[in-house]
Amino acid sequence: MTGPIEHLETLAGKVFLPPEEFAANAVATAALYDEARADRLGFWADQARSLHWHKPFTEVLDWDNPPFARWFADGELNVAYNCLDRHVLAGNGDRVALYFEGEPGDSRTLTYAQLTSEVKRAANLLLALGVQAGDRVAIYLPMIPEAVIAMLAVARIGAAHSVIFGGFSAESIRARVEDAEAKLVITADGGWRRGKVSPLKPAVDAALEAGGATVEKVLVVQRAWDDSQELAWTEGRDLWWHEELAQVDDDHEAKPFEAENPLFILYTSGTTGNPKGILHTSGGYLTQVAYTHKNVFDLHPETDVYWSTADVGWITGHSYVVYGPLANGASVVIYEGTPDTPRPGRWWEIIEKYKVSILYAAPTAIRSFMKAGREIPARSDLSSLRLLGSVGEPINPEAWLWYHEVIGGNRAPIVDTWWQTETGGIMISPLPGVTATKPGSAQTPLPGISVEVVDDKGNILPNDSAGLLAVTEPWPGMLRGIWGDPERFIDTYWSKFADVPGGPLYFAGDGARRDEDGDVWLLGRVDDVMNVSGHRLSTAEIESCLVGHPWVAEAAVVGAHDDTTGQAVVAFVIAKARHAGEAGADGATNTLRAHVATQIGAIARPRELFIVNELPKTRSGKIMRRLLRDAAEGRTLGDTTTLTDASVMKAIADRLRH
Ligand code: PRX
Repeated sequence: MTGPIEHLETLAGKVFLPPEEFAANAVATAALYDEARADRLGFWADQARSLHWHKPFTEVLDWDNPPFARWFADGELNVAYNCLDRHVLAGNGDRVALYFEGEPGDSRTLTYAQLTSEVKRAANLLLALGVQAGDRVAIYLPMIPEAVIAMLAVARIGAAHSVIFGGFSAESIRARVEDAEAKLVITADGGWRRGKVSPLKPAVDAALEAGGATVEKVLVVQRAWDDSQELAWTEGRDLWWHEELAQVDDDHEAKPFEAENPLFILYTSGTTGNPKGILHTSGGYLTQVAYTHKNVFDLHPETDVYWSTADVGWITGHSYVVYGPLANGASVVIYEGTPDTPRPGRWWEIIEKYKVSILYAAPTAIRSFMKAGREIPARSDLSSLRLLGSVGEPINPEAWLWYHEVIGGNRAPIVDTWWQTETGGIMISPLPGVTATKPGSAQTPLPGISVEVVDDKGNILPNDSAGLLAVTEPWPGMLRGIWGDPERFIDTYWSKFADVPGGPLYFAGDGARRDEDGDVWLLGRVDDVMNVSGHRLSTAEIESCLVGHPWVAEAAVVGAHDDTTGQAVVAFVIAKARHAGEAGADGATNTLRAHVATQIGAIARPRELFIVNELPKTRSGKIMRRLLRDAAEGRTLGDTTTLTDASVMKAIADRLRH
């Protein structure tokens, strides 16, 4: 990563204090740090008690068998009840839970009472279809209220959902459905994207044609379809969501489940070709997302309108569109489409329309708005905004300052939040009424969270040095495992710092630096994971997809710096000798780029793809990705002395220059 480090020197001195009025009314005060320091587990128990427990817990943490943690294990709760019924019972049934904005301009508002009743009905439908506690349900939907309703209905009956991002391909759906052995898929005919219908059910059909034998039924939400086309329908398997819901009532009592009951599996890219099914459970996860959402976003649920622009297909959508905000009784905006449809200022129009007060977005989006120019947001009234958040990748100081001035009117504090699919909730972030923020730094671990920057052996490094980010104590929202693969769970996250005193430590995969004040600056991934527009992609997964194409003998993929998307996928491919003709023809690179998009999803499509004769390898046969990255970023090549054949890199670099 180049962004944050480059500007450390020039901007580290610039500090933004919380505005006085903001600090005076802030939810979180500095006392939180003291409370957590005095009694960490007692602190988490207090946070957990702000939820409703059908059966209170007596034990906070069981860490007798690391890395397999159990939090609040003898307690019982219902996650959906916590997000819905209890707000209605507390007299807040008329408060808006969801403001939905469709891309074509349609909108829908659901109060907590209405959302509760919709979820109860959907829960009854799932039960009628034979879904039971412990089963898995795959959800492949656009950003429409039904996505939230489906997730909460699955949670309500004690089953686990696996939400698959709507941009993923049929092949990605098949792999995920099979790994989780899903019994049911909930999808839509299509969704609206960039003014067009983006088909969803056809991808599910293709996935189930290729596999996914455990799936018994497919529920289809009617959202968007082009009448000129026929929607394929498998009798006996496919059911319309609205027709089935009409057959069941909305009376459903939420039953308690154990705190460690699985809540969801969310697949994320790792360093191998297969995505990992990250498993999250109920009580600890909900505790952490509710606590962080309330304190980091300074939520005043009676008055705030909160908008996280993330899709429910990613962890941010799980934790900070659905579970955290709804557990706190927030009014949440969800938007179906892209930021520039039908006009470049769509986001800002939405903020003006709903008087959004808290906005949570990714640096990539902010950088693309910067490029488009400040006159676009200036056309909308953004004065309702009082807090801004950033997530998914390091935010470079220029983007931070632009966000602060142009979007936040120099008045709204910014919280740069570091966390991961695996951590479940935010780990490192300012508290907006407390922390003096430095543009580009995620600042300090939240109260209750223990993070250190360590060297390769796990020794804690002093301030003013760079190393690896490690979490040194278990935390409630931590992943409980990789679905079906405990060995990979241990290997990936807990083996690097297994023998450190007080260990095992959790290895996050990120490089980080603590400055002279001890504030944390994230430096990007240290493994073969790329971060493209705040989305995690695996070099190995794209390589194995390319090698799956008949023309390809070998492939190497790197994440090269990109001014807008943070990193971009750049692929180097060696063609099979017998397919040299096809691979050498005009348009061949586009064919291979498109292959990645159809196999994995459009976000994985390489920005550039080069067909080369050889790849740089060490004498032991390992591809030197570092060199390819240097070449792709146009830098002078690093040390090539360990290569079998040093001329390879010269040839590649010459190719790139042309
Ligand atoms: O490299 C870090 C980066 O995103 C990774 C986690 O990706 P994912 O599981 O997809 O979750 C993204 C949303 C939480 C991390 O390992 N990352 C996330 N937030 C930040 C970040 N890098 C720097 N600063 C952040 N605020």
